[in-house]
Amino acid sequence: MLKKRLILAAVTGLFATTVAAQANLFKPDDAVKYRQSIYQVMSAQTSVMGAMVKGEVDFDAAALHQRALNLGNAASLLGDTYFPETRGESTSNLLDKAWDDMDGFQAKGQAFGSALQDLIAVSGEADFDAAKARPVVTKVLQSCKSCHDDYRK
Ligand code: HEC
Repeated sequence: MLKKRLILAAVTGLFATTVAAQANLFKPDDAVKYRQSIYQVMSAQTSVMGAMVKGEVDFDAAALHQRALNLGNAASLLGDTYFPETRGESTSNLLDKAWDDMDGFQAKGQAFGSALQDLIAVSGEADFDAAKARPVVTKVLQSCKSCHDDYRK
């Protein structure tokens, strides 16, 4: 049986998915696991980028650009996991507040999407270097934290 689900279409801003009336692809507890795994994949990308801009690992412009693309690809999958039946799942760290303040939550997603868009663009330029990387990577990291501060347990 198909179940109509309302998806938070703009969770990742520019990477919004349009799966408004999707088939019953995931059970709520599986969707939360899937969502958390996606965030883990995202976190692995930002860890490498963060280490590069801090000089903890060698700066590699092409590798950083690839990480940015990976981040965008992973984030584009998040929309599948945000449907109302996941609200109240005990394993989820999403605050109920997000469902009650969808505009605010989506604005955080859009800020992340726009920071990531800048990072992807700038890191793809021929003269991309560590100095240029620092502000665009930092902006992405801040956008992660800003959403967590308000909407994550
Ligand atoms: C629009 C809000 C938002 C943005 C932007 C966001 N996150 Fe999250 N993040 C969440 C929420 C909500 C959870 C908790 C999800 C759940 O448990 O259902 C989470 C969970 C996580 C987790 C824990 C996953 C686990 O195993 O439980 C990690 C790691 C994480 N995010 C990393 C990131 C990184 C890195 C970025 C930026 C590149 C980012 N997040 C951007 C909202 C956001």
